[in-house]
Amino acid sequence: MRIRRKAWTEPALAACPFFVEKPSTHRGQWPSLFVKQQPVMLEIGCGKGVSTAQMAFENPGVNFIAVDEVRHVLAVAVKNASAAYGEQPPTNLLFSAVDATRIHDTFAPEDGVERIYISFPNPWDERAKHHKRRLTHPRQLMQYRAFLKPGGEIWFKTDNDALFTASKRYFGESGFEIIYLTDDLHASGFEPNYVSEHERLYAGQGKAIHFLIARMADLAPDTQDTP
Ligand SMILES: C[S@@+](CC[C@H](N)C(=O)[O-])C[C@H]1O[C@@H](n2cnc3c(N)ncnc32)[C@H](O)[C@@H]1O
Repeated sequence: MRIRRKAWTEPALAACPFFVEKPSTHRGQWPSLFVKQQPVMLEIGCGKGVSTAQMAFENPGVNFIAVDEVRHVLAVAVKNASAAYGEQPPTNLLFSAVDATRIHDTFAPEDGVERIYISFPNPWDERAKHHKRRLTHPRQLMQYRAFLKPGGEIWFKTDNDALFTASKRYFGESGFEIIYLTDDLHASGFEPNYVSEHERLYAGQGKAIHFLIARMADLAPDTQDTP
């Protein structure tokens, strides 16, 4: 869903104490931007941050970093987070504008990311040969491997059957072991589940939500990029 570019985007981001400009300058030093040293989790393609804000607010013992490539969407996300936290700005949540296709420029193993959330990424049509842009494509997964902690996890949700089917293959090819999977998250009883904007939209249309947790394992020596 497109949001109109808002005139207040840049002023809102500039005034936000938990929005990080120049994210690549913090590569390997993200933990030092937080008040408390505690587990770090990263959301990629956070959109308007509806579930991000709730998840971070309810889990003060985790430091969350949420990124998206679109600044005017992030301006809505910081507004949503401010509303969720009330008078005190979050100290365990940071937002930044990052293009995931170059995420290796922004995060390093020293950042200690132990979980990545990817919720309802653009499915990109396989027939149109756009599938390399998928946030779960092996090109991406190999970048995430480069900074994810050993044994780290990716939590992935989508309503899109074709993307989910392909992603199960991508995770296997990229040295991730699927440790939990459901094709109907809302009927599964899995908790906690923080419902994102798109999840609410699609579930409201009666669509079942696919969800999996993939854990990073050792990479097979002959692993190749998927064409
Ligand atoms: C369909 S929306 C889902 C938003 C949110 N996760 C949700 O579930 O409601 C996909 C989001 O991914 C972001 N996105 C797409 N490609 C990206 C990329 N290469 N790097 C960072 N964000 C990206 C888009 O800007 C958009 O906000």
